[in-house]
Amino acid sequence: MTAQIIPVQNFDIVVFGGTGDLALRKLLPGLYQRFRDRQMPEAARVCAVSRREVSSDDYRSSVRQALTEHVNADDLVPDEVEKFLRLLTYVSLDANGSKGWPDLSEWLASGVDKIRVFYLATAPELFGPVCARIGSEGLVTEQTRVVIEKPIGKDLASARAVNDAVGAVFAERQIFRIDHYLGKETVQNLMALRFANALFEPIWNRAAIDHVQITVSETVGVGNRADYYDHSGALRDMVQNHMLQLLCLVAMEPPSAMDANSVRDEKLKVLSALKPIRPGRVEQATVRGQYAAGAIGGKAVPGYLEELGRDSSTETFLAIKAEIDTWRWSGVPFYLRTGKRLSQRASEIVVQMRPIPHSIFPRDAGEVRPNRLVIRLQPDEGVRLYLMSKDPGPGGMRLKTTPLNLSFGETFKVRYPDAYERLLMDVVRGNQTLFMRKDEVEAAWTWCEPILAGWQESDEGPEAYGAGSWGPTGGIALMVRDGRRWVEPGT
Ligand code: BG6
Repeated sequence: MTAQIIPVQNFDIVVFGGTGDLALRKLLPGLYQRFRDRQMPEAARVCAVSRREVSSDDYRSSVRQALTEHVNADDLVPDEVEKFLRLLTYVSLDANGSKGWPDLSEWLASGVDKIRVFYLATAPELFGPVCARIGSEGLVTEQTRVVIEKPIGKDLASARAVNDAVGAVFAERQIFRIDHYLGKETVQNLMALRFANALFEPIWNRAAIDHVQITVSETVGVGNRADYYDHSGALRDMVQNHMLQLLCLVAMEPPSAMDANSVRDEKLKVLSALKPIRPGRVEQATVRGQYAAGAIGGKAVPGYLEELGRDSSTETFLAIKAEIDTWRWSGVPFYLRTGKRLSQRASEIVVQMRPIPHSIFPRDAGEVRPNRLVIRLQPDEGVRLYLMSKDPGPGGMRLKTTPLNLSFGETFKVRYPDAYERLLMDVVRGNQTLFMRKDEVEAAWTWCEPILAGWQESDEGPEAYGAGSWGPTGGIALMVRDGRRWVEPGT
């Protein structure tokens, strides 16, 4: 069980791309967990649609199988699984043709007064056409919301086109642009840490902070997503969305309230204050890498090009020195680093404080290291604050770095819901706080575009790094040049 459950109103959800990976791996397991926890009402209904010809019974069997693969064995209660499966219907539908639309309309007609959610777990090219069709079929009620997944465009112009197409059918208050990082428990804890404690605000600025590091490292390669990934790369796949959102939560001014527009207004200000990395500066401020063959956890893994089966200059690793032109952050770099096939799966935010102004200790007391706050997003969620303390025992003053360690797993002995579980319930509640607003997405693209342009102009491709390493040497040099170094996750 999760800690506390606030039931949501009755709803119908239509999942486009219902047979796809996202639906089977995340959305249906997420809904099952909310159902099992009694948050999702027993009268809620789920309609999965996709082009494939499958009967509802066969679809339920594939969901049953998906639940056994993607839900913890302890959470799989056979009776609950069967009850949940009874809420599912499948409609075979052609997004661009006529097949299936009458069936979908008929299914929805028996729930006109309910909250209605259209979840577009499809290729982004379909966002516009599917929304237009939902509109022309008359399926949008006052209580309807639409959820779209990233990637929202591949540059500013295409992101605007998607936003315009979706916006032609739905009002902004009905559009939920999901960034699943915002649904992660520890990402929200970042807001609790900053705004529910008076301790941090006075030091959360250029006077006390030397720099910030945000690392999202993965051990997985691109596997069967190679075709999507090769047109995307780390900048579009991870930085334009997840990493910039994390940066915003660290850097934003305190919002006046925890409501959707107050929070998103503050994030937008950060995105708009990011110093542009113009093509001429791209070489100094960014480092691209691409994984070559190597070993992870003692197991040999192939390189990116071998997985892809052709040549490519797509980056699977990216390090960026970002700067924010505001009074609070001027002169405090935010170093971002993300990559596939790195040494560990870990996401951490490191807030590195400045050194003390003057040491009163004798030299043999040891080095006085600057304090460091580490927010561990996954796995082993928690917060560590590194302080200097006296090494216990006789023998004079010896200084030692000691972590104050708050492990959320050990402190709160509850199951952490998957990001999608929370976000799906927020959609039903109509709470957009953890979803990206149109202008945020566009501001993020505005910052990313000159980087893409700079890479295009450059003769250099990404630097190779061995799978299982911490990325290319250029990534390390990016910080060493500034007299700093990356903090390895978990240390
Ligand atoms: C997705 C990216 O948005 O996030 C993937 O498309 C990436 O490439 C994934 O692997 C990482 O998410 P998480 O929750 O596993 O950190």
